[in-house]
Amino acid sequence: MRNFRNITGDVYWIGANNKQLALFEGAFPLPNGVSYNSYLVIDEKNILLDCVDKSVCGVFFENLEYLLKDKKLDFAVINHCEPDHLATLGELVLRFPEVKIIGNSLTIKLIKQFFNFDIDSRAILVKEGDTISTGKHEFTFYTAPMVHWPEVMITYDKTDKFLYSADAFGTFGTLNGNIFADECDFEHNFLDEARRYYTNIVGKYGVQVQTALKKAATLDITMILPLHGPIWRKKLDYILEKYQKWSTYTPEEDGVLIAYASIYGNTENAANILATKLAEAGVKNIALFDVSVTHPSFVLSEAFRFSHIVFASSTYNTGIFVSMETLLNDIAAHNLQNRSIAIIENGSWAAQSGQKMKEILSKLNGMKFLENSVSLKSSVKEENLTQLKNLANKIVSTLPNSAPKPEFEPNPFFKITYGLFVLTAKDDNGSAVEKDNGCIINTFMQITDSPKRIEIAVNKANLTHDMIMKSGKFNVSVLTTDAKFDVFKKFGFQSGRNIDKFAGFEQNCKRSSNGLYYIVQNTNSYFSAKVISTSDFDDHSVFVAEVEESAVISDVPSLSYQYYMDNIKPKVEIKPATISKKYRYVCKICGFVYESDVDMPDDYICPLCKHPKADFELLN
Ligand code: FEO
Repeated sequence: MRNFRNITGDVYWIGANNKQLALFEGAFPLPNGVSYNSYLVIDEKNILLDCVDKSVCGVFFENLEYLLKDKKLDFAVINHCEPDHLATLGELVLRFPEVKIIGNSLTIKLIKQFFNFDIDSRAILVKEGDTISTGKHEFTFYTAPMVHWPEVMITYDKTDKFLYSADAFGTFGTLNGNIFADECDFEHNFLDEARRYYTNIVGKYGVQVQTALKKAATLDITMILPLHGPIWRKKLDYILEKYQKWSTYTPEEDGVLIAYASIYGNTENAANILATKLAEAGVKNIALFDVSVTHPSFVLSEAFRFSHIVFASSTYNTGIFVSMETLLNDIAAHNLQNRSIAIIENGSWAAQSGQKMKEILSKLNGMKFLENSVSLKSSVKEENLTQLKNLANKIVSTLPNSAPKPEFEPNPFFKITYGLFVLTAKDDNGSAVEKDNGCIINTFMQITDSPKRIEIAVNKANLTHDMIMKSGKFNVSVLTTDAKFDVFKKFGFQSGRNIDKFAGFEQNCKRSSNGLYYIVQNTNSYFSAKVISTSDFDDHSVFVAEVEESAVISDVPSLSYQYYMDNIKPKVEIKPATISKKYRYVCKICGFVYESDVDMPDDYICPLCKHPKADFELLN
């Protein structure tokens, strides 16, 4: 039965999945299967973009015949002749004898080699940049040799701005109903297999992929439609950046791949010890593979991913152990470059594997061999432990992010000058009951003069924050040096979610023309503003707003944070512990005491005044 999806308007995905195929190209395991994508555009003249593998021909032809109904298939573009796409062309020609086949001269040559039907009478030969119109759509053809075969083309539909990209941007893995990359968790479900597909299928041809990427960069593309795996209609930069890294042999991640071949477990022991030493030195991104167990296509893919690779192998027949030799030759055949390499060899009487491994890898560009290679004799001894530790240290010292992160001292932050302000807002949901709320902020500044724009940062935990997000408006009242601690307790140390902060306080407020309260007691000015931009900064939002109204209320000087700390905030009285707890901290801002047998977490926030751990003092 037919099974297709509409992509947009008159464009359809008419491909299919194969979950039963064990080996792609008879070489690469397919734990998650593979999809064969084909696309049909229904226009004044109908055009098919590539066929499918013979294993899925049944549903492919049902899709095609159902969508075409009684209409002809006018054109079939053959972007790629590998039989996983071409095998059904012969039957296509039998079912749609009038179809014209679009390809370049090499396409036609390869079709002749694979089939016996008359191709010359139905071939439309195209060259770089040639176009064909089907009515509404106009298709342009570009060559992309060696991505993955020499005849490969990519086809651009100028009308929809779609790039039919052949094998490029494809991946192993079936499409489980979700044919778009944004419909599924691509990074989790597909990225590893996309990398394995790329590196094993076209990894060798980075230069040619670069040429194709440069051609694509000249086109205005809204969708990338590959022959395998999900279609890209959002965040195209994500997959383009991956291809940029893979095709330039740039490590995708800083981290360490350890690939080992071990006969009786002693080389494996060394590999595991090295992994442990790396982890103890703080390396988080480590992958460890027994290359006798894991298929080389997976390890090759990981080699393209990581910046550092350690090869550990027993010596065998005065050479490299067989599975490691296979892997290294595969890596060399795929032209991997620009990695930091370390070697561990093992040999009970004539260790040779280290030198032989180095010989293979030395032929590749940009391979940097770390000193500190390790040579074992049969098993790991005490002196080898030291060598492995030294190797781990060497690797860590060459990882770009190995430098310790700078520690932030809290004290410099207390030197920043701040004012203190009451920020007010209101629920603006149109309901009969509208609620006012306010909180204390210290981040308020003018950022432009004409027009008058201001900026505030507000903790997301505050109800006032949510009100501003909804209503897009707020007032700021500038507190003065005669403010009492009560105003901070009212607006700063309690939540508007639990109480009405303005109950009994109305006589100290007025409403501006935007309907919000501003404070007239112990303030010297206020501003009414309308939000024009909101930015998310983790636990705070920053609002940029245009001032719609402002006025001076008094001449009393504005209150600075320092003045508040020195003159308004009561000195914290620490009550003796009533219960015995291992950790007691006091909040220097509001006096809240944290008591627990568990140490205060680094991300702790004072439940009263919302200040961070840096504002607490340890009492015991
Ligand atoms: Fe999907 Fe190169 O064939």
